[in-house]
Amino acid sequence: MTTTLYVYTGTGNSLWAARTLAASLPNAEVAAMAHHREGPVRPAADVVGLVFPVHMWGIPHRPLEFVRRLELAPTTYLFAVAVNAGQVSRTLVQLREELAARSLRLNAGYSLEMPSNYIPWGGPGPAEEMERRFGAARTKLADIAQRTARCDQGPIEQGPLWQRVAFTGIYKLTFGKVPTLDRGFHVDERCNGCGTCERVCPSGNVAIVGGRPRWSGRCEQCLACLQWCPSKALQYGKKTSRYERYHHPEVRLADVVAMARPAKG
Ligand SMILES: Cc1cc2nc3c(=O)[nH]c(=O)nc-3n(C[C@H](O)[C@H](O)[C@H](O)COP(=O)(O)O)c2cc1C
Repeated sequence: MTTTLYVYTGTGNSLWAARTLAASLPNAEVAAMAHHREGPVRPAADVVGLVFPVHMWGIPHRPLEFVRRLELAPTTYLFAVAVNAGQVSRTLVQLREELAARSLRLNAGYSLEMPSNYIPWGGPGPAEEMERRFGAARTKLADIAQRTARCDQGPIEQGPLWQRVAFTGIYKLTFGKVPTLDRGFHVDERCNGCGTCERVCPSGNVAIVGGRPRWSGRCEQCLACLQWCPSKALQYGKKTSRYERYHHPEVRLADVVAMARPAKG
């Protein structure tokens, strides 16, 4: 059995989850969704996994666009892990519907709770709570690996009804506006133009111009630029200078840069 796990990540939670799964599955590799920017994606593996964060109670732009170009052999076992901060809502049902519209089957869809990287609403929370989430995620990933090795059918996990009712409309309303939400980014006096924000951006949306980052309206809201800024100079809106930055403690900047764009060959 061969497995390819396609990942999208801003702050490394999804990358860590994919790597943890890959370590428990035979002949498994981790690949970056952001390296497949155009044309059909035709994985050769027997098992394909999609590992991505939940954004605004649904599938973010890049993974959705990726899924719409996925072409699978009828025998391929397809599963997904929607990495979130406690509100997976309808994300995996949305994914099942997207795939079904193209006659593809989502065999299993799992919700994985991790610390929040949505810094406009605050930092990732207390260290004990983060540790609890990492521990629970490790246990759940071990279970997902066993289910994947058996090619189990189902489950397609989802949040409670109130969450799906309250937030699906917000996802639909917000989705089209995401690319230009980068208008909320700005830098303070700590910015030294180092270019980390440019290198981590999976959509090539940030460029250093005149020693400062400039965004160009193709934002995916992954928040990698802000969260990985080594000077904590990058802000979003008015409150983020007060909040802790977050990235997964076992994921390094170089790992996320490598996921964001293919190495120049
Ligand atoms: C723009 C944005 C929207 C988010 N929306 C949700 C959400 O609807 N539900 C949720 O549980 N977490 C939400 N989060 C939190 C992330 O899903 C969560 O922290 C995830 O683990 C980040 O994964 P990553 O490190 O691979 O990017 C959001 C994060 C961002 C940046």
